[in-house]
Amino acid sequence: RVAAPSALVLFGVTGDLAKKKLLPAMYDLVNRGLLPPSFALVGFGRRDWSHEQFREVVRESVEAHARTPFQEDVWRQFASGVRFVRGEFDEDKAYEALKATLKELDVHAGTRGNHAFYLSIPPKAFETVCQQLADHGLAQHENAAGWRRVVIEKPFGHDLASASELNAIVERVFPADSVFRIDHYLGKETVQNILALRFANQMFEPLWNSRYVDHVQITMAEDIGIGSRAGYYDGVGAARDVIQNHLLQLLALTTMEEPLSFQAHHMRAEKAKVLASVVVPEDLAAHSALGQYGAGLQGGQRVRAFHQEQDIPGDSRTETYAALRLDINNRRWAGVPFYLRAGKRLGRRVTEIAVQFKNSPNLLFGDNGHEALGQNVIVIRIQPDEGVTIRLGSKVPGTQSEIRDVTMDFGYGHSFTESSPEAYERLILDVLLGEPPLFPDHEEVELSWRILDPFEQCWEQQEIKPEPYAPGSWGPAAADELLARDGRVWRRP
Ligand code: BG6
Repeated sequence: RVAAPSALVLFGVTGDLAKKKLLPAMYDLVNRGLLPPSFALVGFGRRDWSHEQFREVVRESVEAHARTPFQEDVWRQFASGVRFVRGEFDEDKAYEALKATLKELDVHAGTRGNHAFYLSIPPKAFETVCQQLADHGLAQHENAAGWRRVVIEKPFGHDLASASELNAIVERVFPADSVFRIDHYLGKETVQNILALRFANQMFEPLWNSRYVDHVQITMAEDIGIGSRAGYYDGVGAARDVIQNHLLQLLALTTMEEPLSFQAHHMRAEKAKVLASVVVPEDLAAHSALGQYGAGLQGGQRVRAFHQEQDIPGDSRTETYAALRLDINNRRWAGVPFYLRAGKRLGRRVTEIAVQFKNSPNLLFGDNGHEALGQNVIVIRIQPDEGVTIRLGSKVPGTQSEIRDVTMDFGYGHSFTESSPEAYERLILDVLLGEPPLFPDHEEVELSWRILDPFEQCWEQQEIKPEPYAPGSWGPAAADELLARDGRVWRRP
């Protein structure tokens, strides 16, 4: 479906996200014919740029990062709707100028009063911007023409209390159904495929419960360090950065019941139900592990330790790796541990969900039995090698009855000729279409903080220092001990 004529106002135009993801995604959408000719992009920022200078900035980022080929005629169409409004977030004059620009676009570019405000800015600025939009009549529908939507980027708060406060601030100005919270993992093709795998097939769901599943491992490993994001990352750490949102969303999709439909309220109801059933262990310290990358070699290159990164204090206690164990108290999952881990500067970039099955109750094949056989595993490979792997035991050819692990593989690259859209393309399009299913609502966000808060409090109160780990490794020894205490080991993806 093609989006309706509309204007997207982008706050935070000079940020990394805008440059690498948002601006290229908009161009790609235009290129794929998914945004109409009457789509306009308005940059709002402090820089003293003319419309033309901003167009140049957009063009550079499109040329460097768009996924579809750069074409002059497509660019000209896109560029004709690009404007820039200069101003501070709290400057009345700037919002008046924005209002005039939007009016001009409504009349001359045909954006018809449909306005989305994309806040790719630090959360501490949300309140000012939302209030200004309200005060200048930009947040409400004037004479019912068009729609108003607001898009917010994580972090949605620092803990449960600040997240609730933030939600209240935003929803004071914008009605709940016009607030789109971005968790870009939900925009990924393979993440959307989790529910398709589970509910479009008959063969997984009968096994998807505590009777057959031994435990589940959810891994988000990155090989990069924090790059130039010290200002954001220090004091936030791996758990708040990606477990609170991406990993808990993966957990919810893996464990939720079948929704009545894919409509947002049905999806959210099931996700909220399972997130509310998550219980954190009593001994939080023994059920979690923190790490911080040290200096060393990664991929043949010398890399700095986290505490030597630019703008990171030498004594920073921020974790760049976190692992934790969660349980789900419901009929389907009681007794099945869920292990979540996320870290930077690990062995390689990989995100996956591994559902590990119990051993078969009786094994008739030879003496090598259970020891030689791994458990059956279904691995949903989120990225970068998208697909699904099933590991199972098979008889080794020959006269003996020996069993060995083999794998069955489904890879996107082999099975589909269609390419997956970038997560942000899908999400921006959905905002403009007014399709909310891929956006967590405030309840999901708060339920996720309710799970993470006790861990964060424990780490702070017990002054748990993250354990150093070597770049290119699979994290700190404490993470291995976390699983060893339960008689298990992490997978090496
Ligand atoms: C972001 C985190 O949400 O996700 C980053 O803030 C992380 O720290 C990024 O690097 C990873 O995204 P992806 O899509 O590359 O897995």
